[in-house]
Amino acid sequence: MVLPYNLTFSHDLLSRHLRPGDLVLDATAGNGRDTEFLARAVLPGGHVFAFDIQPIALQRTRTRLVDASPAGLDLIQACTLYLASHADLAQHLPAAARGRLRAAMFNLGYLPGGDAAVITRASGTVAALQALESWMMPGGLITVMCYLGHPGGAEEGAAVEAYCRGLDWRRARVLRQGFLNEPKNSTVLYCVQYK
Ligand SMILES: C[S@@+](CC[C@H](N)C(=O)[O-])C[C@H]1O[C@@H](n2cnc3c(N)ncnc32)[C@H](O)[C@@H]1O
Repeated sequence: MVLPYNLTFSHDLLSRHLRPGDLVLDATAGNGRDTEFLARAVLPGGHVFAFDIQPIALQRTRTRLVDASPAGLDLIQACTLYLASHADLAQHLPAAARGRLRAAMFNLGYLPGGDAAVITRASGTVAALQALESWMMPGGLITVMCYLGHPGGAEEGAAVEAYCRGLDWRRARVLRQGFLNEPKNSTVLYCVQYK
C-alpha cells in the first residue's frame, strides 16, 4: 500500500526533517516507541524531552530506551523523561531550549496496554500547543495524531482542529491528513510547520 497510515506518515516527515544535534519534544511518551524513534533521529548530540502523566508509561519508555540502545549509542542519555503534563511543559523544559525545538510529537489518546480511562484531554492538548508557540524554532514541525473513536477523542480532535485553523498562515502552515473512509477509531493527523 503506497498510502501511508497517519503515524507512519508522521514518522516519515520527521525522519526527513530531523538531524543529529536537534532538540525535540515527545508530548506523550506512552510505551516509548516515538521517544525511541526521536532519539535515534537526533543522535548524536541531540536531545528528546518526553512527557507523560503516568509512571508506568515512563517506566516502559525507560526500559525500551535501555533495551533498544545499540552498541555505542546510549538512547537513554539522549532523553529527559518528565512525569508531568505536557500542558505544563514551560515549567519543565530548560530555558536554553526556548525557540530551539525542531520538532514536537503528540500521539494522543490512551496508553496501549494501560488504563484506557487515562486519556489526553482537549484542554491540556491545546494548552501544550499554545505553550509550544514560543519553544519551536523557525521551521519547527509539530505532528499531532488524534484518535476520534474513544470517548473524548472526537471532542479533542475538534479542539485541535479549531486551534490549527486559528493559526495565522503567515506564521505557520497546517496540513490535515487522514483517510476519509476509515470505518472506526478514525485517526486524523495535523502537521504544523512554523515559518
Ligand atoms: C497513545 S499513548 C502515546 C504513545 C507513545 N507515543 C508511544 O510511542 O508508545 C498516549 C499517552 O499520553 C499520555 N497522556 C495523557 N495525558 C497526558 C498529558 N496531559 N501530558 C502528557 N501525557 C499525557 C497517556 O498517559 C499515554 O501514555
